[in-house]
Amino acid sequence: MNRKRPLALFAAATLAGGCAASPDPQLTFVQMTDSQFGFYDYEAELNRYRQAVELINADGENAAPNFMIMCGDMVNVPNEKNNADFVKASEALDIPYYLVPGNHDYNAKREIIDLYHKSFGRDYYTFDRGRYRIIVTNTNLWKSPQAETAEFDRWFSEALQNAKDDGKLIIVAGHCPIFLKTADEPDDQYYNLPRAKRAEILKLFKDYSVVAYLGGHSHTRIDNTWEGIRFLHPENTCTNFDNRPFGYRLIFVQGRTVYDSFVPLKR
Ligand SMILES: [Fe+2]
Repeated sequence: MNRKRPLALFAAATLAGGCAASPDPQLTFVQMTDSQFGFYDYEAELNRYRQAVELINADGENAAPNFMIMCGDMVNVPNEKNNADFVKASEALDIPYYLVPGNHDYNAKREIIDLYHKSFGRDYYTFDRGRYRIIVTNTNLWKSPQAETAEFDRWFSEALQNAKDDGKLIIVAGHCPIFLKTADEPDDQYYNLPRAKRAEILKLFKDYSVVAYLGGHSHTRIDNTWEGIRFLHPENTCTNFDNRPFGYRLIFVQGRTVYDSFVPLKR
């Protein structure tokens, strides 16, 4: 449990959310996505990520985030040097950080899968914070099924059941949006999950009362609610197609209620 209380910020987030809540979140963390060094300008994108790390460490919002989660596409082109640059910049964080594989970090090529594991560790896993279990998924295996998909699907179902058995509230993190605007929208070649897989995943989310899905990939802010589940894709530090400023989001969770607040880069 964080001891510092983000009173002013949480109050603002509560007002923005339009409902009352005690200003004492049970879990506070940073959601980032798509640092994607090399999308347009490698050095500029690396430097903006470093700025975000400095801001998180400075914690000017007095939010005391417990960890940072990066929802994929750490780099534009994965290789030893680029991945190492991301890890080195991230190791400057004063808080733990957790990584999600994006489609630019991970694909069906054996050498890229091996590089991901060598650079960043496991591509799907879980971790706990208090009453919450965060399930980190590899949505590449859902978007473009490959040899590892069946095992991953089994693991995901077991992870949900294990969380339920352990009495945890579940937050799922991934990269690709499950959907962009509506759960029954048509397939998009690039930006959502295929309808059959989407229906399967959403049923699991509903059956296991998932609190929120944290993602990236869209380079456009997404904030949807479906069946009481929040789907959040924040601004990034690389390129925002919707012209939102560069930055990251602070996420406050209280019970099953999720609030978020944008933190812009300062320069
Ligand atoms: Fe992506």
